[in-house]
Amino acid sequence: MDPLAFTETHLRDSRARGALRSMPVLQSAQGPRVRIENRTLVNMSSNDYLGFANDQELRDAAAAGASQWGSGAGAVRTIAGTFELHEALEHEIATWKGVEATLVLQSGFTANLGVIPALVGRDDVIISDELNHASIIDGCRLSRATVRRYAHADPDSLREQLRQCSPDQRKLVVTDGVFSMDGDIAPLPDLCTVAEEFGAIVMVDDAHASGVLGHGGRGSTDHFGLHERVHVQIGTLSKALGSMGGYIAGSQALRDYLVQTVRPLLFSTAHPPAVIEASRAAIRVLSRQPERVEHLWENTRYFKTGLEKLGLDTGRSSTPITPVIVGDARKAHALSDHLRELGIFVQSVAFPTVPKDAARVRAMVSAAHTRDDLDRAIDAFSVATRNVAAP
Ligand SMILES: Cc1ncc(COP(=O)(O)O)c(C=O)c1O
Repeated sequence: MDPLAFTETHLRDSRARGALRSMPVLQSAQGPRVRIENRTLVNMSSNDYLGFANDQELRDAAAAGASQWGSGAGAVRTIAGTFELHEALEHEIATWKGVEATLVLQSGFTANLGVIPALVGRDDVIISDELNHASIIDGCRLSRATVRRYAHADPDSLREQLRQCSPDQRKLVVTDGVFSMDGDIAPLPDLCTVAEEFGAIVMVDDAHASGVLGHGGRGSTDHFGLHERVHVQIGTLSKALGSMGGYIAGSQALRDYLVQTVRPLLFSTAHPPAVIEASRAAIRVLSRQPERVEHLWENTRYFKTGLEKLGLDTGRSSTPITPVIVGDARKAHALSDHLRELGIFVQSVAFPTVPKDAARVRAMVSAAHTRDDLDRAIDAFSVATRNVAAP
């Protein structure tokens, strides 16, 4: 008996359910148009919101970083892996975000896995939005704290959950700033008000809000003017900032504490110089060119208006993340395939990532898209949704 036989079974079941994931292979750099299977397609599947992933200044910075400082960090941060560059990046992110201090980790996912168990443990409680990202869910599990889920973006439900906690328990309220599958924004002011009634820590994961919401892309806390009321902000360098990494932003004391306690910092090698230098370049360019964020929003409004005129269901999205919800998983996959035939690369998402009856294709708008790209995408949606809906 093959002890790995379950892998074959799993694959067979996933295929039968139409839920088999694949990894499309790009034959070009990331950007508003990409080459896949020898065709150039309009790319509406990436999180490259500001067009930084293949920006010349970031490329040059990465190359110079590797050339001067080498290819690897060689150790974890607390042993021998912290270069001046890491600290410079952390200061620059702190200045940009308007916080006292930040700590950079290998990815946004890692940041959540690291920070949540550092803040709460077995005797504590986490109150988490039911639609939070997988990395938050996994961070909660690792912490061994009791996890209570509140109804999506619902401050009353949050209050109800908090009421059921013991006054002695340390409480962590955690939410995505922008939800990655629906593109809606968390009602942070109301969530903060409720959390304050119970003395809870407030943590916001801005993976999809960094570079997108707030003045100069500073994120959802800045968008709502809540600098004094959100205690822990998570951000990523891997999406709008065109590079790789995650950061935790907050007070100096929080950073100092996390340096002692965050396991991925203590037990996994630091970022290589090329990645750090590309990230620093992204913050520099963004500070010089905040209009990139405005352009992202112009493109977002244009694209969403186009889809609305077609009568498509974009759910509760109010950000560049634009789901077109079709319900059935097979229909969503067929729509994605048809869009690709028409020259648009837009991926489908089905259960378990989204509820069973809410499969969708998820279109991501970038500041780097031209009007022509967006018009081609809207036209393709018009044709493909009609053809896929037809019996
Ligand atoms: C809300 C949220 N947090 C964290 C992450 C992970 O970020 P990274 O890609 O930098 O690991 C994602 C990625 O999709 C996300 O949507």
